[in-house]
Amino acid sequence: MADEAAAQLAGYRRAHAHGLPRITWKVAASLDGHIADARGASQWITSGDARADGHALRAAADAIVVGANTARLDDPRLTVRHGVRGRSPLRVVVDSRLRLPLTLKLFGRPLAPGTVVVCGKDAPEARERALLARGVRVWRVPVLRGRVSPRALAARLAREGCHEVLLEGGATLGASWFAAGLVQRVVLYSAPLVLGGGLPWSAALKVPLARARRGTVTQVTRVGPDVRTVVEWEE
Ligand SMILES: NC(=O)c1ccc[n+]([C@@H]2O[C@H](COP(=O)([O-])OP(=O)(O)OC[C@H]3O[C@@H](n4cnc5c(N)ncnc54)[C@H](OP(=O)(O)O)[C@@H]3O)[C@@H](O)[C@H]2O)c1
Repeated sequence: MADEAAAQLAGYRRAHAHGLPRITWKVAASLDGHIADARGASQWITSGDARADGHALRAAADAIVVGANTARLDDPRLTVRHGVRGRSPLRVVVDSRLRLPLTLKLFGRPLAPGTVVVCGKDAPEARERALLARGVRVWRVPVLRGRVSPRALAARLAREGCHEVLLEGGATLGASWFAAGLVQRVVLYSAPLVLGGGLPWSAALKVPLARARRGTVTQVTRVGPDVRTVVEWEE
């Protein structure tokens, strides 16, 4: 079972060899690649089966990372549910200037103690105190062009013992981590519906074809009515 063992150890090995976690970007999209429609609605594009499968991915991760817009618009809990057993990973929200409202579920009971908000060094201290008072952890990390540096945060996660990281979007955060060369694996759930307009999951990436990194398709599976495709990239 060498392949199974290697897959289970991938995050551990990467953390020890490179000081970075193994990062999986999970996407739930329409057949034509949109993760939200033109009005911003995204719940739910894929089926309950695909969501349950996504919760199994969460259960296998040490941390889930989302961007500020996803936290604000979806108000997610980022816990393991849908009949999947297992501990919930650390919940990490990237909010460079600490502008998210304190009313989010992630900042209330019972989720706050398992939540980390990541911001830049100049984020307001009063906001940090308000989050700390709720039991939320705040990590200040270096900023790149006004936003939390993906590489600095990835390295911090590895130092905190998070070897398997699940990036749950949205498009902007995922693209910046992908562009930084940090993503080893994309798990794409494609639903059999077409939206035409909306938010494409890779919209923020602009890669010339000649420079696009071609990955390897390691799995194509039907999950209920949807298709799950796993693509992996070498280091
Ligand atoms: N179907 C799916 O799989 C799925 C999954 C997740 C989200 N969504 C949908 O996606 C939409 C939100 O996506 P989005 O692209 O608008 O926003 P997003 O990626 O969730 O959040 C982007 C924000 O994250 C913050 N950020 C911090 N560091 C960053 C960095 N290095 N690079 C990029 N962003 C950084 C920035 O805000 P600051 O500058 O304030 O820090 C930025 O504006 C929602 O409609 C949501 O429902 C769909």
